[in-house]
Amino acid sequence: MDEPRIIVALDFDRASHALDLAAKLDPSLCRLKVGKELFTTAGPQLVETFMRSGFDVFLDLKFHDIPNTVSKACRAVSSMGVWMTNVHALGGKKMLQAARDALPISGNTKLIAVTLLTSMDHEDLRDIGLQGEPEQIVERLAKLTKNCRLDGIVCSALEATNLRNKIGNDFCLVTPGIRPADDGNTDDQKRVTTPFQAINNGADYLVIGRPITQAKDPLFALQQINQEITQASQEK
Ligand code: C5P
Repeated sequence: MDEPRIIVALDFDRASHALDLAAKLDPSLCRLKVGKELFTTAGPQLVETFMRSGFDVFLDLKFHDIPNTVSKACRAVSSMGVWMTNVHALGGKKMLQAARDALPISGNTKLIAVTLLTSMDHEDLRDIGLQGEPEQIVERLAKLTKNCRLDGIVCSALEATNLRNKIGNDFCLVTPGIRPADDGNTDDQKRVTTPFQAINNGADYLVIGRPITQAKDPLFALQQINQEITQASQEK
């Protein structure tokens, strides 16, 4: 099996639930994403536990602050040795460069950026004074992220084709909003993509939460989605 392309989003409010789920999964089939809620309640210790069990961890804390503060936060992440972490591209060039300096390309931690939050619509963008269509802003922030030598971005799989064309292959696209074709439930996600389509559109890693975490058999759900990914990769 190739390297795991699925990152399971552990959106739980307590460590025990996240540990129960992880115990059902296999580190050769997926990576794990720990976000603000779980990290705030369970801390670095839980991340270390996952890593000791063989899982790569994406620490999804989306840092956004002055360059000095983000640099120090990234240095703290660096000492944890996680596989991937992220910052907000809206923090600007100096902040992105400070984050990259603290987590150098030669290190073990991939550093990616969030461009625009997908929860923001036209009105939200206007409220904060951002001009232009969301797609244009995403593209501009993606290019800024690449110029600051970060490893990639989080984006919708629906934007992946265009971004891949504009930014090239040497840039990691991490895409949430994934729902298997036979999953009638999109939960609160508005613009969803199947795993097959996401890979076809050029995504490198798929962030998937509820289709796996809420499945009756999470390992089986993971295996099914991996099969779809393998098929899409072979047909590409
Ligand atoms: O359960 P579901 O598959 O919808 O979970 C998706 C995960 O990806 C969640 O952790 C969510 O916060 C995250 N995410 C997202 N959309 C973004 C960025 C992150 O759904 N634009």
